[in-house]
Amino acid sequence: MLDLDTVARAAQKVTPLPRTASRLLTILFDPSWRVEDVTGVFESDPALATRLLILANSARYGAREIATVKDAVIRVGRGSVMSLALSSVARAAYGPGVRVFGEDQESCWRHAVVASAAADLLRAQCQDVPQEAATAALIHDIGRSILADSIPPEWIRTIEVAKQSSGAPWVEIESEVLGVTHAEVGGIIAQHWGLPEILVQSVLYHHAPSQTTTSDASIQRACHAVCLANSLAHAHATPVLGAPGPEASDSMEVLGLDGDAVESIQKELAIAVDSFAAAFSDQ
Ligand SMILES: [Fe+2]
Ligand SMILES: [Fe+2]
Repeated sequence: MLDLDTVARAAQKVTPLPRTASRLLTILFDPSWRVEDVTGVFESDPALATRLLILANSARYGAREIATVKDAVIRVGRGSVMSLALSSVARAAYGPGVRVFGEDQESCWRHAVVASAAADLLRAQCQDVPQEAATAALIHDIGRSILADSIPPEWIRTIEVAKQSSGAPWVEIESEVLGVTHAEVGGIIAQHWGLPEILVQSVLYHHAPSQTTTSDASIQRACHAVCLANSLAHAHATPVLGAPGPEASDSMEVLGLDGDAVESIQKELAIAVDSFAAAFSDQ
């Protein structure tokens, strides 16, 4: 069994937030943020500015060409800029070449980007979903790679065999074998990065949003949006499964979405994913 202190020590080794990302997040979490301040940060990081322009010119944001960082920030909005700021560090934390419980780094990363796109689409349907949900969805499974890095290979094998034989959700198997889940580990990392409570809680409770201890309604909705976005990303990757899984049905109810609304989001997600993924790629 693992204890949370061991996990917390492993989290200290995770790549810290790069300077550009922490400056952007500091600005954007201030309710009085100004586009000019954000533009200034992008000017000091041409690689990130390029990714912002790719995102702003992707199919999901319409036809007019965007050529300046300022216009790009205005077009994509605060939530997508935050996601972009976290994307490189999130990708690094998935660990090049590391297999995360039966999945390679690329599929973990793709799942993260698709879940983030799904959270963005949920917000378009449901205005009281906070913008931060897309950022939280991008890092929601960050604890999986840390777990895979911190436990002996034979434990990973035990978990993978249990998954194959029982088909139970990963969190149940992790809890049984390790005594800790990737969601708890992810919450520790989000705290270690100094991220705001809405991101910490959304990562920590993405498989059980009803268990969040916060009384802040906005954080509760973010937790539910990330839970549903996770299910939509799984359904996108394995279309044969169809609708989101049972853990998301509570979240659909809380967010006021019925089956038809979710189905239309699934269709939009299929269209949005490719252009969205390009902007979050390190290529
Ligand atoms: Fe998860
Ligand atoms: Fe996930």
